[in-house]
Amino acid sequence: MVDSFSTALRNLADAFNRSAIWQIVDILSALFILSIGCLLLSVVVIFIIDRTQTQHAVRRNYPVIGRFRYLFETLGEYFRQYFFAMDREELPFNRAQRAWVYRAAKGVDTTVAFGSTRDLRPAGTVTFANCPFPTLDQNAADTAIVEIGPYARTPYRTASLYNISGMSYGAISKPAVLALSNGARMAGVWMNTGEGGLSPFHLEGGADIVFQIGTAKYGCRDDEGLLSDEKLKALAAHEQIRMFEIKLSQGAKPGKGGILPGSKVTPEIAAIRGIVVGQDSISPNRHPEVNSIPELLDLVSHVRDVTGKPTGFKLVLGGYEWLDELCDEINSRGIENAPDFITLDSADGGTGAAPMALIDYVGLPIWESLPMLCDALERHKLKTRIRVNASGKLITPAEVAWALCVGADFVCSARGYMFSLGCIQALQCNKNTCPTGITTHNKSLQRGLDVTDKAERVRRYAERVTHEVCVIAHSCGVNEPRKLRREHARIMGSDGVSVSLAEYYRRWIQPERRPSQNGLGRPQFDADAA
Ligand SMILES: Cc1cc2nc3c(=O)[nH]c(=O)nc-3n(C[C@H](O)[C@H](O)[C@H](O)COP(=O)(O)O)c2cc1C
Ligand code: SF4
Repeated sequence: MVDSFSTALRNLADAFNRSAIWQIVDILSALFILSIGCLLLSVVVIFIIDRTQTQHAVRRNYPVIGRFRYLFETLGEYFRQYFFAMDREELPFNRAQRAWVYRAAKGVDTTVAFGSTRDLRPAGTVTFANCPFPTLDQNAADTAIVEIGPYARTPYRTASLYNISGMSYGAISKPAVLALSNGARMAGVWMNTGEGGLSPFHLEGGADIVFQIGTAKYGCRDDEGLLSDEKLKALAAHEQIRMFEIKLSQGAKPGKGGILPGSKVTPEIAAIRGIVVGQDSISPNRHPEVNSIPELLDLVSHVRDVTGKPTGFKLVLGGYEWLDELCDEINSRGIENAPDFITLDSADGGTGAAPMALIDYVGLPIWESLPMLCDALERHKLKTRIRVNASGKLITPAEVAWALCVGADFVCSARGYMFSLGCIQALQCNKNTCPTGITTHNKSLQRGLDVTDKAERVRRYAERVTHEVCVIAHSCGVNEPRKLRREHARIMGSDGVSVSLAEYYRRWIQPERRPSQNGLGRPQFDADAA
């Protein structure tokens, strides 16, 4: 009795399941036929649109399939780096450089096996001159402390070597600022606010901060857009703000002010900057009140007087003849009136958004401008008074060590630290669609950027770069990186014989002995990640 009851129940369930399955199959087949129908209909519509439109020749001649060209062009940008590009081939940063930063940031092994894949033969290749008796580990010294702004009321003393370059809150997201400021605090490096003003997130991380005064003076301007001394004083009251940097220009867009596309101007960013929500925020292309060298020095002295903190300026060099005039004017005013530091950016520096005409064609690259600036300061006996902070694709230890050899006191980077946050070089920083949450204000994309994890990566990256610069210094026989000199680096000639950087730049200032006339190319760094 019980058996026949359960059999009846099973039969009933089977029958029900079979009919349900058939119903689902029926629905799926109907959907399939419908979607094929829709697809065919859309192909016909697209065919007619393509054939009749007059703007695109390819689509008019090859309706429907001509559209795949645009798709492949877009996808190619993303897939090239995975499938086609060689390790040391891509720009702005090749895979070898990016991979080194990723490994350093993740704290995984950065050693390589078997041998270098870097070709040491091309003219211009930079190498370092090891000494027969490298510094013993127990004799290695801590990185020297440098004082910036000895005449300011509150000079800044720091041992940090590799700091975070200006990126405004606006160009980068809230979690990116938080991860950078926390990572900077843990690594003991400073972080520059960029020209978008001071956000609560810069302060929250607890790092030393350099406040940048951009040409729109965001965060320190009055209702007329002029520099406000009250706001400067309020900023300087934050102990965390250690220095002020007046931005004259940045490498990617000399002569053009900052550009923040309207899609990135959220209510919070608008409030911090004092601008309108959703509208493009475009800074003037220079400080209107700074028209000459004396006016530049006046502004530097004014900001330092008001804030009591070291004050310098940032620029990318183009012409460099004016540097002698600048130094003469400083010496005639007295060295206490000098800028406390100069941040020198490279023509191939990064940006959130810039016109291609400027990003590709204007300004000098760091390998030319850094020795020019350092030599000018040396000539006028200002090299120890004015600290030099170099930036521009200096993201691996060898590149940083090169800059120290040439004469930089500090190196800073924006994109190196972006890679440590997980940037995959998708090149969409100006579109609010950054897939890694770094340069977007889209909350769902920001979710991917975990502040705690990425702050650790920032710390590890800063520490690993500093550690390996020390390793190069010790190999060259000096006990700390700030003792690296031009004699410690060499540059390859086309005849396969290298000369020291000291000799290279000595030739540079004698036109008849220019390095190019001796078969020496430009210094090459893009293959430096080992
Ligand atoms: C997303 C982004 C935003 C930037 N914003 C600023 C800025 O607000 N002010 C500034 O002086 N430089 C800005 N820069 C330039 C960097 O500070 C730096 O000078 C340049 O990228 C060179 O360093 P890098 O090659 O290590 O990136 C920005 C760069 C990037 C990538
Ligand atoms: S992942 Fe792409 S869009 Fe995001 S920061 Fe990096 S380059 Fe810019």
